[in-house]
Amino acid sequence: MKTFKIGLLGLGTVGGGTVNILQTTLDEIQRRIGHNIEVSIIAVRDLNRPRPVDTTGITMTDNPENVINHPEVDIVVELMGGTALAKDLLTQAIKNGKHIVTANKALIAEFGNELFALANQNNVIVNYEAAVAGGIPIIKAIREGLAANKIEWLAGIINGTGNYILTEMAQPGADFEKVLKTAQELGYAEADPTFDVEGIDAAHKLTILASDAFGIELQFNKTYTEGISKISAQDIQFADLLGYKIKHLGIANRTKNGFSLRVHPSLVAKDVLIANVDGVMNAVMVKGDHVGPTMYYGPGAGAGPTASAVVADIIDVIRAQSQNVDDRVPGLGFRTDSLTQAPV
Ligand code: NAP
Ligand code: HSE
Repeated sequence: MKTFKIGLLGLGTVGGGTVNILQTTLDEIQRRIGHNIEVSIIAVRDLNRPRPVDTTGITMTDNPENVINHPEVDIVVELMGGTALAKDLLTQAIKNGKHIVTANKALIAEFGNELFALANQNNVIVNYEAAVAGGIPIIKAIREGLAANKIEWLAGIINGTGNYILTEMAQPGADFEKVLKTAQELGYAEADPTFDVEGIDAAHKLTILASDAFGIELQFNKTYTEGISKISAQDIQFADLLGYKIKHLGIANRTKNGFSLRVHPSLVAKDVLIANVDGVMNAVMVKGDHVGPTMYYGPGAGAGPTASAVVADIIDVIRAQSQNVDDRVPGLGFRTDSLTQAPV
C-alpha cells in the first residue's frame, strides 16, 4: 500500500468538487484501490478567498510552481483553466516526472499534441476525462469500451451551458442574459462564457473526441465553429411549431476525403432521443462498425459531475502505477461482507 500525493492547481468549482470527493468518499475509494490518496498542496490565485471545502492539513499557496516542483507530489491535477500558464506549468510538471490529470479542454484541444509527446518521452500519464461532457465517461467509453471498433461517426450535445440556455429559452418570457447568469452561478459556464455561447468550448471538446475516436492528431483550428448567440426565443418557438427542437450539436464524421468536424445549432425532430436531452445534461452518440450506434448520457458540467471524472482519472493513474494489485482480491480492497437479502 502506497500513499499517492496530489498537487492541485485551482480550487474553484471543479477543484472544490474534487477535494470534496477526496474527503467525503476517501475511505471507499482507498479501500477499493488498495492505496491511499492525500491532497498535499493546492495553488490558488487569492489565498484569502473563502473556500467551499476544509483545507486543514493541506498546504495552500498562491505560487503554482510550488505544486509542480513539490518533490513528493505524484500527480498534478490542473483545474485552473486558461492555456498559456497552464501549458507552461504542465510542461514543467511532466519534465519533473509528475502524472497529469486535467479538465482543461482548451489546453488539450490546442496543445495536447505537444503535451502528449512530452509525456511519452517522460513516461508519465496525461488523463483528461473531465475535459469532455462533464460526468459522462465518454473518453473511457471510446478509448476502452469501443476500442475494437472503427468509429464511423459521433455526434452530441457537449456543452452544458449552451443546452441549459436553449432549454430555458423555450420557456415563455425567458431572457438570454438572465439565463446565462444563472448558468454561471450554478458553476456551469467557462470563466469567459463567450466560449460556451460561441461554440468554442464545444469545438474544443469535439476536437478531443474526434482525436480519440479516429486516432488522429488534435486539430482544433480545422473545426467549423458556430454558437447559439444568434438563436432567439422566436427561433425556438418556430422550430417547436414545426415539430423540432433547436440543439447545439458537435458532429464528427469519417468522410471519403478524411474527417469533418463541426459544431453548430441544429434542428432535431422532437421524437429523436437527443432532442429530449435538456438543461445541463449532455449526450453523445457514437457509431462503431461492430457495435453499431451507442449513446452516453449524463450531466455535462458542474462541480460534482466534473469532479467525479477528475477523481476517476486520478484513480486510473494510481491503478496504472500499482503493480500486482488487483483490487478485486479479498484483503486488498474487495469487500467480503455477505449480501443482504433484499425483500421480495
Ligand atoms: P474556476 O471556478 O474559475 O476555478 C479556477 C481556479 O483556479 C480558482 O481556484 C483560481 O483561484 C485558480 N487559479 C486561476 N488562475 C490561477 C493562477 N494563476 N494561479 C493560481 N491559481 C489560479 O474554474 P472551474 O469552473 O473550476 O474550471 C476549471 C477548469 O475545469 C477549466 O479548465 C474549465 O474549462 C474546466 N471544466 C469546468 C467545468 C465546470 O463545470 N465548471 C466542467 C468541465 C471542465 P482563485 O479561487 O483564488 O481565484
Ligand atoms: N462550460 C462547460 C459547459 C463546462 O457548460 O459544458 C463543462 O465542460
